[in-house]
Amino acid sequence: MRRLATTEVIPSARRLVRSLRDIGYDISSALSDLVDNSIAAAATNIWIDTNFDGEGSWIRVLDDGRGMTGKELREAMRFGTQRIYGDDELGRFGLGLKSASLSQCRHLTVATRTSAATPIRLAKWDLDHIEKSDRWEVLRPKLRESPLAGNPRYPDGRRAEADFVRLIDEIRQHLGMTFHRYITGETRSHRRVVIRINGQVVEAWDPFSRAERATSRLPVQRLRMRVDGRALIVTVRPYVLPAESAFSSLAAHRRSAGPRFWTRQQGFYFYRNDRLIQAGGWSRLRTQDEHTKLARIAVEIPNGADDVFELTVSKTQIRVPPAVRNELGAIASSVSRLAEEAYRRPRGDRTAEAAGLASDQYAALASLVRMVIDATDQLIARELADSLPMRARLIGRLRAMEAELLQSAATALGITNRAT
Ligand SMILES: Nc1ncnc2c1ncn2[C@@H]1O[C@H](COP(=O)(O)OP(=O)(O)O)[C@@H](O)[C@H]1O
Ligand SMILES: [Mg+2]
Repeated sequence: MRRLATTEVIPSARRLVRSLRDIGYDISSALSDLVDNSIAAAATNIWIDTNFDGEGSWIRVLDDGRGMTGKELREAMRFGTQRIYGDDELGRFGLGLKSASLSQCRHLTVATRTSAATPIRLAKWDLDHIEKSDRWEVLRPKLRESPLAGNPRYPDGRRAEADFVRLIDEIRQHLGMTFHRYITGETRSHRRVVIRINGQVVEAWDPFSRAERATSRLPVQRLRMRVDGRALIVTVRPYVLPAESAFSSLAAHRRSAGPRFWTRQQGFYFYRNDRLIQAGGWSRLRTQDEHTKLARIAVEIPNGADDVFELTVSKTQIRVPPAVRNELGAIASSVSRLAEEAYRRPRGDRTAEAAGLASDQYAALASLVRMVIDATDQLIARELADSLPMRARLIGRLRAMEAELLQSAATALGITNRAT
């Protein structure tokens, strides 16, 4: 083929950097991407420190991983770091460090050394400088010019604004969820990391409440798919969590709700190399329904399947590939059916059990009671979508009412109830 003449056209740094800030990160997913980097660098401890102070606010991520040499640091600062990735690595696009950080702030300073004996090297992306110069110029600040050298000041009770406290809590929950396998050492490699936010250790949040006795673990499914001639296995572990009244305690139930609460936490939990990518949602296979909220399904994205799962740069979303769509859909609907059952009859119908085979009259009355209760339940869910505490209280009361009504129906029909 004849070679055409070419001209290299360099993108405008000013304009490109602006759009790279906007690729779907929020503060929690941005920090998760930086934690990925620390894990990839073999860190066992990660410290996240925040200082919210108007224009002088900063967030620092520190780790005890292997660090970078001067040459590596230079390459790391490039948008689109050139590197070869192993199959089981958390990195992928060579963008995270830069785009995650700069999606949240205007200055990114990286300070690194490979051992206590080597000097600390610094490099900095400064959006104001890029805006002005319209060039891809990394700044090389001196250590003493960088606030990183300072010790973190933790906001005290007085100064810490309620909004920041809430934000930090949100980050804590998100990291505890995203990295729960790393925090507990449940990774395939048995690797464990300790993440601290402002000195406080982040606790793991188990999406499947496996510590609860009433959680049901359904049989593991293995779906086969072929990618580029390779046979890959997608492992699926479905769970049905206990209904509120079947939880060991109210506190445990509240904890299990998760960052986005029950209804929005139902669905698939996609893991990539033991790191959670998407926590809940049915990936357009069904809708999130109040009645199926106890269904949560772990799905392992196999190594080498990033492209077919269309992993986004911000690692916040994937898409279910056509090859496993039907099978996943079928699993989702059967698990949802079981979840609905667990939700409607949290502990089985003990009154009826106690009576042996319940009388037809009782069965008719019971289904009438349930119809009314279910309709009220749906009404509450709809009308009080915004006030969770109120809704939780009302739904709790409603359940108690259902039990009472069934009980009086049984008494009226002369069915003795031995269960309590
Ligand atoms: N905390 C860290 N410790 C050591 N090296 C790091 C760290 N963070 C980033 N790097 C280096 O910077 C490179 C670029 O990071 P990033 O932009 O997140 O892209 P990716 O993680 O996809 O490679 C990484 O490949 C790694 O070599
Ligand atoms: Mg990265």
